[in-house]
Amino acid sequence: MSFEDLLGSWDGEELVARFDESAHAWMLIGVHSTVLGPAMGGTRLKPYPSLDDAVRDVLRLAGAMTLKNALAGIPYGGGKAVLAVPDVPGGEARDALMARYGDLVGALGGTYVTACDMNTAPSDMDVVASRTPHVLGRTDTAGGSGSSAPDTAVGVFHAIRAVCRHLFGTDDLAGRNVAIQGVGAVGAPLADLAAEAGATVTVADVDLARAQEVAAHTDGRAVPAEEILGVTCDVLAPCATGGVLNVETIPLLACRGVAGAANNQLGVGADAERLRARGIVYAPDYAANAGGVIHLAGHETLGWDDAQVAARLAGIDATVSEILRTAERDGVTTARAAADLATARIDAGRCAS
Ligand code: NAI
Repeated sequence: MSFEDLLGSWDGEELVARFDESAHAWMLIGVHSTVLGPAMGGTRLKPYPSLDDAVRDVLRLAGAMTLKNALAGIPYGGGKAVLAVPDVPGGEARDALMARYGDLVGALGGTYVTACDMNTAPSDMDVVASRTPHVLGRTDTAGGSGSSAPDTAVGVFHAIRAVCRHLFGTDDLAGRNVAIQGVGAVGAPLADLAAEAGATVTVADVDLARAQEVAAHTDGRAVPAEEILGVTCDVLAPCATGGVLNVETIPLLACRGVAGAANNQLGVGADAERLRARGIVYAPDYAANAGGVIHLAGHETLGWDDAQVAARLAGIDATVSEILRTAERDGVTTARAAADLATARIDAGRCAS
């Protein structure tokens, strides 16, 4: 697809591109929608094969943030940034790049609010924050709200309960089997929550020792990473990486439902239909993993206390339930139902403004 076709087929508001001479990097900011509030989404730092690939990524990711933030019920639109670098920098060069990037975010005057994403950390957001206030996810010491991962886990836990209620008529997890792919910052606390609720937990991680450690203190079991998708279970929770639900893996799944934290779990859009055809109830990733943005926005800009954040995290259950019911009633995929629900909320916001 040509650059012109790429931009022409995008339904977003604004793409900002700045070439950073010092780092030989493209800074791209996709402002997809500001209907519900400032466009908010993280900054991805990575080398891309070409500028076209970087543009394609930022446009796609920005659009996904509009849907995620709308479903999360926070007053933010969707945006995303990509820093397309020749190599991921470290040390002073990295800080200098982040400072210049902070200037670009600042130049947008609050249209776009940034945060962490792939290869960017709270320490990078501290540097960005030295140049602009339009940033979430700084370190605790710099006034940020700390890791969003535990709240993301709580949100996924609520999504798992919604999936179970839909499948079995009860959200009691006692005796249910939950399989978790990836027990990092989100997957490990999720394993704890599931075990505390009485579920039997099966975990896997490419770091086998980490999986064994989590299995040990949740009274669960660890399996090799390549086996987790085929584990017989009630709910599979992908909490590692994207693209795990695809034409090759979907036939192998032995779960009744899927609800996890990983972004972009579907390999391609058609995989939602493949899951539906197999009778697997899929909680769309951006609905299930909204705890991260709820944590950041709630604590850092909306002034919510812990109880208010907890109530919003619990609201993920209601959102996922509504998506699952609508999909069943209308005979569509849950991905379709989620996108329609988000779009309806954005349209309602447009009418109200
Ligand atoms: P993390 O990097 O702390 O944990 C990921 C874990 O998955 C690591 O332990 C890694 O070894 C393991 N892993 C990687 N590939 C694997 C594979 N093929 N099989 C099994 N294990 C594998 O990341 P974190 O923060 O726990 O996030 C997990 C996922 O959730 C990521 O896709 C992230 O983008 C997404 N997410 C995270 C949020 C957060 O607040 N941390 C918010 C929303 C989404």
